[in-house]
Amino acid sequence: MAHTIIIFGASGDLTSRKLIPAIYSLHKKKRLPEATQIVGVSRSEYDHDQWREMLRESTQKFANSAFDDATWDEFAKQVYYHPGDISEANDFETLAEFLRSIEPDSRVDRVYYLSTMPQLYETAIEQLGASGLAEEDGGRRRVIIEKPFGTDRRTARALNDKVHRVFREDQIYRIDHYLGKETVQNLFAMRFANSIFEPLWNRNYIDHVQITVAEEVQIGSRAAYYDTSGILRDMFQNHIFQLLMLTAMEPPPRFDATMVRDEKVKVLHSVRPMTGGDFAAQTFRGRYTGYLREPGVPADSQTETFAILKLYVDNWRWKNVPFYLRSGKAMSCRSSQIVIQFKSPPHLLFGSKIRDFEANRLVIQVQPAEGIQLHIESKVPDTDMKTRTSTLDFRFAAIDSGGMPDGYQRLLLDAMNGDASLFARSDEVELSWGIIDPILAAWRSPAAPKLLDYEPGLWGPIEATEWMRDQRREWFDVCPVIE
Ligand code: BG6
Repeated sequence: MAHTIIIFGASGDLTSRKLIPAIYSLHKKKRLPEATQIVGVSRSEYDHDQWREMLRESTQKFANSAFDDATWDEFAKQVYYHPGDISEANDFETLAEFLRSIEPDSRVDRVYYLSTMPQLYETAIEQLGASGLAEEDGGRRRVIIEKPFGTDRRTARALNDKVHRVFREDQIYRIDHYLGKETVQNLFAMRFANSIFEPLWNRNYIDHVQITVAEEVQIGSRAAYYDTSGILRDMFQNHIFQLLMLTAMEPPPRFDATMVRDEKVKVLHSVRPMTGGDFAAQTFRGRYTGYLREPGVPADSQTETFAILKLYVDNWRWKNVPFYLRSGKAMSCRSSQIVIQFKSPPHLLFGSKIRDFEANRLVIQVQPAEGIQLHIESKVPDTDMKTRTSTLDFRFAAIDSGGMPDGYQRLLLDAMNGDASLFARSDEVELSWGIIDPILAAWRSPAAPKLLDYEPGLWGPIEATEWMRDQRREWFDVCPVIE
């Protein structure tokens, strides 16, 4: 079956940095379904060759797999450009004509990729419906929608309603690029393809979980978007909640889109709602010094660039185990990791001869290094009974073509093949906003916790370290543990 991928927002950054390099890499690895064509749509007036030339340069720069001219030339023959304005119904008519002119027959599966400004998602969907482009008259029609999916629960629900007027839920792929990352998918393998972790994966053995997504970068030129979004909308509602769901979910009966997503959604249902004093006691807001001097940031901005949420998942497995979720810009290093902190042994055999030893810890490194480290106590040789913390490392082996595939490769291919396991479902998105909304409301109220400053290059406000110590716990503030 032939395929066409139609990218709306073709002149944007995401298309040149991520989407086209990912599709090119899939072509190079011969993973694309046969007869796949790509059509870029945006307002700029390029012709096919101009767009291909621009993409050649950007792909050279951004493709993970080594770029080669001959493969590109062959690939570029399948790439087209069609100028069009999302608000112009007529442009969808001409797009439909153009698609008919390049597709071999009517039995072509199409994926519409919305990589436009989020304000245009609703219009694009309406136009796809009105122009007949969403009709499955021979081939399948699917739509991939980029983040952010709404800015709160109300807008996410309204967008879901609009999209459902044109596409069935099984045609809709809400993308979160974190789910395309190999290490994130490896959480499924680690938890459900091994029998040694799952028996310990609960409140009886785990003291707490830390999920940290630290970024070294500052907001740079993104103030227009970032200052209205802030870290909860930008990182928590999507990426960090995905990591939370995969860490906390029950094993699904099969690796099937409905069953996987049913289990993920149950985690969100189980998150204990915060009330009253919880917002001050269980959340942290921070902002790196210098944020107000970033170009485009209003002088009276109250936007956070750092946050911590201490959440509880109220079910039999996790009751009273805190999940500390933390993310920030301008942090010490780029490091995304999940730390499973086990409890100390119930009884210590070695009396006063040893130091206070550390309880076991499993560090799942999502990026930039990709692997797992298990911290165990072991005897120091040639001593009486001293122990020290030793580590067992697992590194993802780099693949032949050089490095890990970018997450977009897997996700694009899954959408083309109709596998939605790694995409967010409508209820999932609305539920995650349902957790974020009350926190944001509390943060905008007079009772909001203080917006704490931190110097770039640290692990957030110093108060967050003290707060953790008061709970007799410590952040695992270590830059990538796996080299
Ligand atoms: C994006 C956010 O969704 O994810 C950015 O908008 C953030 O602010 C980025 O920097 C992080 O992605 P990654 O893959 O680099 O961790």
